[in-house]
Amino acid sequence: MKELLESALAEVSEVDLPNAQATEAFRIDWLGRKGRIKDLMAAFKEVPGPDKREIGPMLNALKQAVEEKVKSAQDHFNRAEAVEQSGEDFTRPSGAIPVGTHHPLSVVRREMVGIFQEMGFSVSEGPEIEDDWHVFSGLNFPPEHPARDMQDTFFVQRDPDLLLRTHTSSVQVREMEKRKPPMRIIMPGRVFRNEAISARAHCMFHQIEGLYIDEGVSFADLKQTLLHFAQRFFGPDARIRLRPSYFPFTEPSAEVDVYWGLKTEVDKRITKGTGWLEILGCGMVDPNVLEASGIDSTKYSGFAFGMGIERITMLRYGIGDLRAFFENDMRFLEQFSGER
Ligand code: PHE
Repeated sequence: MKELLESALAEVSEVDLPNAQATEAFRIDWLGRKGRIKDLMAAFKEVPGPDKREIGPMLNALKQAVEEKVKSAQDHFNRAEAVEQSGEDFTRPSGAIPVGTHHPLSVVRREMVGIFQEMGFSVSEGPEIEDDWHVFSGLNFPPEHPARDMQDTFFVQRDPDLLLRTHTSSVQVREMEKRKPPMRIIMPGRVFRNEAISARAHCMFHQIEGLYIDEGVSFADLKQTLLHFAQRFFGPDARIRLRPSYFPFTEPSAEVDVYWGLKTEVDKRITKGTGWLEILGCGMVDPNVLEASGIDSTKYSGFAFGMGIERITMLRYGIGDLRAFFENDMRFLEQFSGER
């Protein structure tokens, strides 16, 4: 009996089941009502008591081996059948995985930053959750000064010293505290203001801040840098104009417009009949600001500017509604798939 079981186990492990029919024949031969396992069970009954302990587990192992062999062959052939019936060709190479597209704001930010990098500016970033010093006080906004009202601010309830930065000028302060002049930096980032959301305003948008500090930096340097930027970005015929303005941290201050045109009704509407569109605020860094960050204002001077990325992106692509940038509607975003 022992020898019989050993040779049966060897036979089972070696048998080849090439198809479903062979598997079924094998199953009936071994596990069927008149199968070989049945016969062996009958023979087992005749085994003398003391030998049963050795023979019993061998018989069980054989039965298990047969069952496993049948099961795995059946699974294999069932799957093969399902594949065949599905009509799919599973050997075909899979389709390409679609890649995403660059967001139009990223496309424009990258291009803008690139133009300033050509001029020797390097890129820095700062935190979106800021303290009062970096957003206001360090930029020459005294406490209670009405200029703080120019930007409707989100404060953090738990700590009145913390707020969401309203402009990237906060990064200027961080950089001036950290480095020594000369410095030429460009600081892109997201900013927040408590504004009702409309086609022209949003509670979150993006700016690019620029700062250049060295000995003898003048307003002429500022104007020429911005003109160069406008002509690289909008084309060699681009024109800019500077209008006097006010920011607590620059003196003198200006707002810069680019010439958009007055040909169509739309041109008239978006430029309010002037042909000019404002793109940024700028000025010479106020000596108070330099001194507050530990820079000697008798030795160094500098200029700063800050522009909105949304506004410039809307101009570039003729986008009429700011909200489109933040809705993540694929039909909108996919239109920029060719841009990089
Ligand atoms: N921070 C100003 C704003 O958000 C823009 C600005 C930056 C003005 C740098 C002057 C210099 O409106």
